Amino acid sequence: MEMMRSISQLKQYIHRKKEQKLTIGFVPTMGYLHEGHMSLMEKATSQCDIVVLSIYVNPLQFGPNEDFDEYPRDMERDMQIARNMNVDVVFSPTTEEIYPNKIYTTVSVSNLTSRLCGASRPGHFDGVSTVVMKLLNIVEPHKAYFGQKDAQQVAVIKQMVTDLNMNVEIVPCPIIREKDGLALSSRNVYLDKAEREQAIKLFESLEQSERWIEEQNVTSFELEQLLYEHISSAHLANIDYIEVLSFPDMQPIENNIPISQLLSNHQVIIALAVKFGTTRLIDNRIYTGS
Ligand code: PAJ
Repeated sequence: MEMMRSISQLKQYIHRKKEQKLTIGFVPTMGYLHEGHMSLMEKATSQCDIVVLSIYVNPLQFGPNEDFDEYPRDMERDMQIARNMNVDVVFSPTTEEIYPNKIYTTVSVSNLTSRLCGASRPGHFDGVSTVVMKLLNIVEPHKAYFGQKDAQQVAVIKQMVTDLNMNVEIVPCPIIREKDGLALSSRNVYLDKAEREQAIKLFESLEQSERWIEEQNVTSFELEQLLYEHISSAHLANIDYIEVLSFPDMQPIENNIPISQLLSNHQVIIALAVKFGTTRLIDNRIYTGS
């Protein structure tokens, strides 16, 4: 496995591999790797000849009061995991390499970013789409892998790739969870014991939703109420948002018709963001009606 910090070195490497007619898979991450990231690497190695993993904590996608400085980092451990997962290249650039000068161009995807994390983290998705655009232009992969844990992020990146005619296939991958259902996240290490115990409320409420939708025929309004009650019974939970929206466009759905009826011609996402102490957790479930 090779570790590269320079864009030009990586571009030369990719050029050589493409001359050999090898397919390139790309897994962008911010490191502190866990089994969620590993599932993306596994899919990439099973579908592509060469896999590039990027590890870069992108300052552009963090707000001024967010956890950029505290974001967990452990390069040695990450390298070991990447090696075990048969990744070919770890690309871990410095910020001077990625943003050598002040940038005047950013990528901004509208509409899909007006709600959820787009609303509660202003500027976040501009930071994400800009860095992902840059990384995709550097790596020029055939396929790039993203987790549905960040469902809005996948929708935004897919839209960007379609709108800007980019030559890459975006491959969404399922959410990987702890045994008790908590979605894996690099930020889970921040949770203390009591917060960790209560964090399970997110998954529990998503599980309950299935029953509420199918057996009680709830509307989106009723479902949001039930989710709110369930999650706020955890006294350490500080709810950022609970929303039931159409997927993948992330817009409100009719709130006086049972969701079970809407599912015949809509996909619906339940999206949650809840803070435990200073740790903000997100989770979601997508209903396709089939
Ligand atoms: P990061 O949070 O490190 O996540 C990297 C990728 O791993 C994302 O596609 C994310 O959805 C996926 N992932 C995280 N937890 C997961 C889980 N439990 N199950 C499945 N997939 C999971 O997302 C980012 O980094 C950044 O925004 C990035 C795209 C790298 C741009 O900076």
